[in-house]
Amino acid sequence: MNDTTTEEKYLLLKLAIKYHTDKCTNKASKYGYIPYYEKHFRPIRHEEMNILEIGVRSNRGHGPSSLLMWKEYFPNSQIYGLDINPNCAGYDEERLKIIIGDQADKRCLDDLVAEHGPFDIIIDDGSHVNSLTIKSYELLIHQGLKPGGLYIIEDLSTSYIGDLDHPSIDVRKRWEGLDLYPKDVPLVNNRVDMANFLMHRVTNMDMCCTRYRSQFAAPEITSMTLYPMMCVMTKVTSDCDFLTSTSSPSVSAFSEYEPV
Ligand SMILES: C[S@@+](CC[C@H](N)C(=O)[O-])C[C@H]1O[C@@H](n2cnc3c(N)ncnc32)[C@H](O)[C@@H]1O
Repeated sequence: MNDTTTEEKYLLLKLAIKYHTDKCTNKASKYGYIPYYEKHFRPIRHEEMNILEIGVRSNRGHGPSSLLMWKEYFPNSQIYGLDINPNCAGYDEERLKIIIGDQADKRCLDDLVAEHGPFDIIIDDGSHVNSLTIKSYELLIHQGLKPGGLYIIEDLSTSYIGDLDHPSIDVRKRWEGLDLYPKDVPLVNNRVDMANFLMHRVTNMDMCCTRYRSQFAAPEITSMTLYPMMCVMTKVTSDCDFLTSTSSPSVSAFSEYEPV
């Protein structure tokens, strides 16, 4: 039985429209990423959480759109935004704080986690440059995200841009904030880097369940859900079934059974 009220069902979409975030207008679905977010977020909406979004954007006269949406959608959570662009500063309010810094800067992320983390949800809607996206994940997944937390990467279609129709694209001119990035750092997207990143996570999940497990890194995640342009990963917990299971299931253990 589905007891979700109509108001609940449409809430996130209404807020996305209200706050003018492109999360509802991109082509990931008729309603952008909203149906995918809704599926993962509705059951945890009222929890007290720390939520970090990398990539704020505030230069379109609407303030920090997605952060305002998250703040209203998660009434008991603290919302943090990280952006390289100093123009995104100055929008702090109760339960909403913006930090200016680079998503691939270890010191910046270490300080952010020490002061405000660990986070229950991390959303990367920042540079969309593969190397920086991957670096943030590596810097945040262990200390920055709580066990069982969600790590979400948006706009994965950008990860192909160097291979396909824009071989010489200058992302510094095309994508927001990247003109602020040090000029000596190459910002080139080749899908193989993102594909390898995703595949390594899948391989470590698969192989930790086999007798070859010692040859592979311990998995950081227990699930990876791929949607058009978007990936939602769940961080392992210490009692994750697939890490700890040793015996065959028995009826006496059914009381512990939880569908995933
Ligand atoms: C797509 S916009 C964010 C949109 C916003 N999350 C929303 O849904 O309304 C991307 C933002 O990422 C920021 N950005 C780009 N490179 C970055 C980096 N290396 N570190 C942090 N933020 C970065 C840009 O300045 C820009 O404001």
